[in-house]
Amino acid sequence: MPDQMKTFLMCEPVYFEVRYVINPWMAGNQGRVDRKLAARQWRNLYDVLSGRASIRLVEPVAGLPDMVFTANGGLVCRNREVIVSSFRHPERQAESRHFSRFFEDSGYRVMRLGSGIKFEGAGDALYDSSGQVWVGHGHRSDVEAISAIAAKLAVKVNGLALVDPRWYHLDTAFCPLANGYAIAYDKAFSAQDVERIRDAFGGKVTWVGDGDASNFACNAVNIGNDIILHKASAGLKTELERNGFNIIEVEVSEFIKAGGACKCLTLEL
Ligand code: ARG
Repeated sequence: MPDQMKTFLMCEPVYFEVRYVINPWMAGNQGRVDRKLAARQWRNLYDVLSGRASIRLVEPVAGLPDMVFTANGGLVCRNREVIVSSFRHPERQAESRHFSRFFEDSGYRVMRLGSGIKFEGAGDALYDSSGQVWVGHGHRSDVEAISAIAAKLAVKVNGLALVDPRWYHLDTAFCPLANGYAIAYDKAFSAQDVERIRDAFGGKVTWVGDGDASNFACNAVNIGNDIILHKASAGLKTELERNGFNIIEVEVSEFIKAGGACKCLTLEL
């Protein structure tokens, strides 16, 4: 049964490529994207998601190759409100305008954090199943984003410092799931923040190893019991299945060349 409760925003990879390097995954991959394969992989993800949720599309823009990663467009709040991103890198800053227009045209109240605070949307801000928000900072989003989001949303916001440049967005290393579960990669965080995740999620965190982390297993889309991700080891699948989830692998190798996978290619509206 499609979960009509969820709607995701996606952006067709018409102009997707690796043109510049703003994260370690992109290094050495400039001009190396197989555009036809990328289009097929994206379409496959679209098909898998559209069988389970509704999908809306934002118009791709020439010269903005990373706009496919709609997770970074903003953070959607209740009641048709959105905090639109202020991107760290000049290469992505023009995207904000296009995401803003999409939200305005769709009847959202568009907010910004202001005061020059950098914030990269749902790439760095994740709701857990209790409604709290977890915000990653240090690489793309500023630490000041934490209190600014809390003020706008009136919800509890927990900050997590990202300590390794490979895990530059929170959604590359952490994924809250339904019913209080989560997937996480400890090496992306300080020992203290690993403890905070443990305290909050208790035994319901599945900690992934280096191999699964590098396959972007934390960059997952959870719809009902389904978890859609690029690749998971047999061990990871077993553990998640034991917790009642069903794993669906959707290969997105061409997008990993730009440092993003399944979750980055979607924004929950
Ligand atoms: N090349 C993009 C960047 O570095 C990838 C963004 C991935 N998005 C995400 N939500 N992790 O900004």
